Amino acid sequence: MIISFILVFTQFRLILTIVLSVYLISLAFFSQYYRPQHLNYSKSWRAVSTPLSSHWVREFRQHERKIFSQNGEDGVLIWLFANIGTVNRPPRFVEFGVSNGEECNTRFLREHLGWQGLMMDGTYEKLSIHLHRENISSKNINELLTKYKTPTILDLLSIDLDFDDYFVWKSILQANRFRARVVIIEFNYMIPANENRVVDPTQDARRWTGTDHFGAGILALAALGQAYGYTLVYGEQNGVNLFFVQKHLLVQQKVLGDVLSVEQLHVSKPITGWSHKPELDHSRSWIWNDTIWKL
Ligand SMILES: *[C@@H]1O[C@H](CO)[C@@H](O)[C@H](O)[C@H]1NC(C)=O
Ligand SMILES: *[C@@H]1O[C@H](CO)[C@@H](O)[C@H](O)[C@H]1NC(C)=O
Repeated sequence: MIISFILVFTQFRLILTIVLSVYLISLAFFSQYYRPQHLNYSKSWRAVSTPLSSHWVREFRQHERKIFSQNGEDGVLIWLFANIGTVNRPPRFVEFGVSNGEECNTRFLREHLGWQGLMMDGTYEKLSIHLHRENISSKNINELLTKYKTPTILDLLSIDLDFDDYFVWKSILQANRFRARVVIIEFNYMIPANENRVVDPTQDARRWTGTDHFGAGILALAALGQAYGYTLVYGEQNGVNLFFVQKHLLVQQKVLGDVLSVEQLHVSKPITGWSHKPELDHSRSWIWNDTIWKL
């Protein structure tokens, strides 16, 4: 009787151990897929003075996550706003160059975290999600933002035009009618980190022709941001997008010193290994040192 009790007891313990191990292993395994629901770290989206992590500007890489974004931008943005909060109620964004709005940087924020905003694209229009078809240029961008009643202070601005993104951002910065706390902008990783150059926007009817002649290098964008009070904080691992934050927010949170250098942030080998063929037409030129980088 006692022996059989001990036997049953040991077996029970064994079974319990197995069940518990399987549960813990599967929890660890599946938790990565469940994370999107839990990414809403800060329940309230007010600007926060106490970040979730005192070294959050060094921790973007482990937070990269692709939900609706092209690469890991969704996770980066959620981590960023969990640490700096938002100022509009609801939080407000502007994103342009979104195609049909299915794969973009603001869809998760809009559909799952209650953000509102304006989307624009040169080809697509879908008024039910506030996506308007507009031919965006550095000449008309500020009028377009006014036309769609953009608030003066935006939580997030996302720029992806495949060609003269630099000049469109510059136009917004110079006009100073709209200020974004965070800017995400496409860059050209194929331009080395020590070359401050950007495409000449007057050429090729402002179009990307499938070669490596597009956009701006990381240094050109970092210099432009720097000149207008923005600090480059991250470049996602697929070498497509850069993240800028208003410098005063980083100063406020005492994390400016944690920010890596432009050279360190430059992704020269995208994780998917993508690249574009070299431009053979040498009449397509670059503009060098449009904004000087100050050490
Ligand atoms: C967009 O604007 C450019 C000039 O900025 C013009 O050349 C082009 O034809 C316009 N495209 C459309 C679809 O309106
Ligand atoms: C751009 O500036 C850098 C650093 O000041 C300089 O070395 C380089 O020659 C300049 N390039 C051009 C084309 O002016």
